[in-house]
Amino acid sequence: MSAAISKIQPLTEDHERYEDVFYNAFYKVAQKDVVDEKVIQYFDATLLKRLTDVFGFGEELSLLGVGVGEGPLEFHFLKSLQSHYSSICNVAVDPNEGMLQTFKGKVATLNFDDKSSCHWFTGPLSQFVAESPLAGNKYNLISSIHSLYHTGDFETTFTQLATMMKEKGLMIIVCKNDINLISKTFHKLPWLTESTQSNERLSSKNVREFAQSQGYDVITVVIPHHWDITEVFDDQSDFGNKLLDFFTMAAYFRQTAPAELVDDLMSFWRSISTEDENGRIVAPAQDEILLISK
Ligand SMILES: C[S@@+](CC[C@H](N)C(=O)[O-])C[C@H]1O[C@@H](n2cnc3c(N)ncnc32)[C@H](O)[C@@H]1O
Repeated sequence: MSAAISKIQPLTEDHERYEDVFYNAFYKVAQKDVVDEKVIQYFDATLLKRLTDVFGFGEELSLLGVGVGEGPLEFHFLKSLQSHYSSICNVAVDPNEGMLQTFKGKVATLNFDDKSSCHWFTGPLSQFVAESPLAGNKYNLISSIHSLYHTGDFETTFTQLATMMKEKGLMIIVCKNDINLISKTFHKLPWLTESTQSNERLSSKNVREFAQSQGYDVITVVIPHHWDITEVFDDQSDFGNKLLDFFTMAAYFRQTAPAELVDDLMSFWRSISTEDENGRIVAPAQDEILLISK
């Protein structure tokens, strides 16, 4: 089995497949726009006030986005902060150049004036920390929206991000919780973490507990939802195979994993899912927003 699983390729290293899988399959099932909308509402109702109460209009407001992808949330943060701050410094980090370019294109429409600046770092967070002078800056707001699974050892990452937080700054982390299909899958198949370079076992509970152990306050908001994973069980479905890739973080999982492993996984997913009144198979999924401050 170990020789067979060595064929498994990390999805995050196949940028084209990642983008395709994320936007054309996972995004739809996860109703990511609905989840993003909840985070946006939280930002508008709570986080923005927390920032503006502490940091005045005359200050430069700096944001560091980690694993921004196409930046759906960071774009909203920038857009609303633009009307509260005369000067903004935005730093976005992501190894996927195509997704980062899309974010860059959206930010260009905000027409920031000369007092503001945007910096785009194409590479993993570890490289940003090791090589970029911008990693020496302190940020008012740090965001990591579903990206901590990919940045290596979580405690190291958290410590690095916390070092880059300004005094009274905030960190917003969005992360799945323990009941999620993906966390359950990575707990069942622990070797997936190494072969896909993604620590999908990480849950909001791990993040919260570690942040609190380091003396940070953590506010938690649960976003409950479910995923319709019916197509995953149809091996002829291109959509289902893309979902399978996202849930395992492996590129072309159905073609590269041993058949008995795929069968086992299908049985496991059925066992933790339920069937709704329309015969659709629905898996558990929940996200949490964590607002972290000192
Ligand atoms: C699930 S996506 C989330 C994207 C975006 N934040 C969103 O909510 O739409 C995870 C993102 O993490 C990025 N990523 C993967 N490895 C990374 C690393 N080592 N450092 C930073 N980001 C990484 C991926 O390229 C991808 O854009």
